[in-house]
Order: sequence, then structure tokens, then C-alpha cells
Amino acid sequence: EGQSITVKWRGKPVFIRYRTETEINEATSVPIGDLPDQLARNSNLPDGAEATDANRAAEGKEQWLVQVGICTHLGCVPLGSSGDFGGWFCPCHGSHYDTAGRIRKGPAPENLLIPPFEFVSDTTIKIG
Ligand code: FES
Repeated sequence: EGQSITVKWRGKPVFIRYRTETEINEATSVPIGDLPDQLARNSNLPDGAEATDANRAAEGKEQWLVQVGICTHLGCVPLGSSGDFGGWFCPCHGSHYDTAGRIRKGPAPENLLIPPFEFVSDTTIKIG
């Protein structure tokens, strides 16, 4: 809990984070209306799905967050456990993402992308 790994998928970094209860509570307490990007950007859900914490996390395993680690501004790789919202911070131009990988402040227009993935067992995630 509270740890992340970065793996490579299709040449891109993918952040896999096992979130703490505090991180989940912070993310769930944010009203959708306060989010600059209100879409989930989750490849596993319909295009118009809202950016709730549940729609960002792995289905049925809300502690897990799996997302492409590329800033939606100009493509830099954000730093983990950083920024004003305790999620990810892209120092290139100052984009702050929260503990659900949603953009909260700065020039990035969209939440971090969630790739297609599934848990094939309790300890194995298949991406793509
Ligand atoms: S590339 Fe991330 S803020 Fe510009």
C-alpha cells in the first residue's frame, strides 16, 4: 500500500499504484464540478463516463490505479507522490494531478489516460 511501479507498454510508461485509504478518500471527496476535466478518460469505460474516483480506479479494486504516465499537456513524464494534490506533478509547465490521476491545476487539458487492462489474477494485471 502506498507504493507504485512503472512498467512499459507500447513504449510508454504506465504507472501502477496501490493507493492508501487516505489517497482514495481525498479523491472521492472532490465534487465532479471542481474538476477541469470531468471525463474519466478510462479506456475500459464508455467515452462519456464521469471522472469519479470509482471510474478512474480498477473495477472492484479501487485501491489500484493504472494509468499511462504521460502528461496530457506536451507529453512529459510526471513525478509521483508530488504536487499540490498529492498525486503526480509535471514540472515541465506545472501540471498537478490528484490521487486519482485527474488534472487539477496547470496547463494539462485532460486527466491521465487509463489504458485497457484487467486483473487476470489477484497479483497479475494484463495491459492492452
Ligand atoms: S508537459 Fe506536463 S505540464 Fe507541460
